[in-house]
Amino acid sequence: MDALTTSIPPPPDLVDPRATSSVEARHQALTAALARAVDDRRRAECMAHIQADAVQLALDVLVAGEDITGYFKAFIKSLVDNCESHACGVWLLDENDVCCDMWMAYIDGAFHTPETEGWAALTMPREAMAAHLHTFAPGWTQTVEYAGDDHRLPDAVRRFNADASVASLLVAPLTLGQKTLGWMALATGCTTDCEAVWRHAVIDATARQATLALHHSRQAERVRVEARRQAMLEERNRIARDIHDTLTQGFAAILMQLQAAQRSAPDLPPQVTRSLETAVDLARSHMIEARRSVGTLRPRPADEEELGASLSRLVGLVRRTTEIPIDLKVDELPTMGGMEREVLGIAQEALSNAVRHSSARRIVVRASTVRGLGLRVSVADDGRGIDESHSGRGFGLTSMQERAERIGAALTVVTAPRAGTEVVLAWEPPSFSIPGDRHAAQ
Ligand SMILES: Nc1ncnc2c1ncn2[C@@H]1O[C@H](COP(=O)(O)OP(=O)(O)OP(=O)(O)O)[C@@H](O)[C@H]1O
Ligand SMILES: [Mg+2]
Repeated sequence: MDALTTSIPPPPDLVDPRATSSVEARHQALTAALARAVDDRRRAECMAHIQADAVQLALDVLVAGEDITGYFKAFIKSLVDNCESHACGVWLLDENDVCCDMWMAYIDGAFHTPETEGWAALTMPREAMAAHLHTFAPGWTQTVEYAGDDHRLPDAVRRFNADASVASLLVAPLTLGQKTLGWMALATGCTTDCEAVWRHAVIDATARQATLALHHSRQAERVRVEARRQAMLEERNRIARDIHDTLTQGFAAILMQLQAAQRSAPDLPPQVTRSLETAVDLARSHMIEARRSVGTLRPRPADEEELGASLSRLVGLVRRTTEIPIDLKVDELPTMGGMEREVLGIAQEALSNAVRHSSARRIVVRASTVRGLGLRVSVADDGRGIDESHSGRGFGLTSMQERAERIGAALTVVTAPRAGTEVVLAWEPPSFSIPGDRHAAQ
C-alpha cells in the first residue's frame, strides 16, 4: 500500500486544502488514483468493445460483400450512440478525386441519403462542407477537431452549427495509404475535454474499419463488373461463332449453288435470269451482312460503308423484289462513328415491313441532316397502316426499337388505318455539326 501511495503523488487539484493531516491527504490521493484506474479500465473495456463491434461489422460486410450502405448506416449510428453525439455525416470522393459529395447522414435518430425523401431539403450545408473537406489541407490523414464556430470552417457550416447548437465537430479522414476515400464528421452538443478524448478515439477506430469496408466493397464491385464484362464478351463471341457457322456459311453455299446454276444454264428466259440475278445479289448482300454482324460482335474495328451508300444498295436490292415503287432521297449525312449499322438495320426492317405488310402504292425512304436534330431517317408508305392487334406478332418492331435505344436515338412509328405508316429515326451526335455548314459551331 505504501509503495502505491508513494509512487502516485496526489494531484494538486484533487487534494482538499482543508485536509490537514498527512493521513487524510494520502487517503485522498489513493482514492483519486483508484478512481483514475477504474476510469481507465472502463475506457479500455469500452474501447475494446467498440473495436470488437467495428471489426465484427467489417467482417460481416466482408462475408455479405453487398450492402456497403447498410454497413455504413450501422457504423455511423453506433458512433453517434456511443459518443452521445447529435449527428454524423459521411462525405466521399469520387474515384478520380475530382468530386466530393455527402453520401449519407444520421441526424437525431434518422438516416438521410440521396435516395430518401427530404434529402434536397436538408438544412445541413453539405456542399460547403464538401468543398471545405476537398480543399482543406490535402494529404490530411489525422482526425481534426473543430469548435462549432471554428474560423477554419466555412461560414455556412458555422451558421448551421450555431443554429443546431453544435459545440464540437470531429472530422476523421477515410484514408488508405496515400489515398483519401472520404471523411466522417461527428457533431456533438455540449462536451467536456474528457469526452472529446474519448470521442476522438472512437471515431478513429470507426473510420479505420469503415475505410477497410469501403475499399473492400469497391474492389468487390470492380471484380463483379469485370466478371460481367467477360461473360458478355464470351456470349458475344459465342453468338458470332453461331452466325458465322450457320448464316454466313449458309449464304455462301446458296450463293455458290446459284452461281453454278447461272453458269450451267446460260440461256434461260429473261425473267428467270433476272430472278436468278436478284437471288444471287440477295444471297451475297446477306452474306456480307452476316459477316458484318460477326465483325461487330467480335471487338475489332469493322470497315464501315458510308450510310448513304448502304441505303442506296439496300433500296436497290429491295426494288428488285417488289412491284411497289420505292423513292430514295438522301442528303449529305453526318458520320456516326460506327453506328451506321444500326441505322441501316432499322431502315432495312422498316422497308421490309412496308413491302411485306402495307399493300402500299408507293414507299419513300429519306435520309437527311436536320439542323439542331442531327440525322433523320424515315421510311414511309401509303398503305393500310399497322393493325394494332398485329403489332406484337413479329420481332421487327421490337428489334428496331432496341437498335435505336442502343445508339441513343429516338424511333417513332406514325400509323393510321388506310393512311399508311411512317417509321422515323432521329439521332443526335454528341457534338452535332451539319457537314459543310460553316455556321454550325457558332
Ligand atoms: N408498314 C406496315 N404496314 C402495315 N402493317 C405493318 C407495317 N409494319 C408492320 N406491320 C404490322 O405489324 C406487325 C408486326 O411487325 P414486325 O416487324 O414486328 O413483325 P413481322 O414483320 O410480322 O415479322 P418479323 O419482322 O419478325 O419478320 C406485322 O405483322 C404487320 O401486321
Ligand atoms: Mg417485320
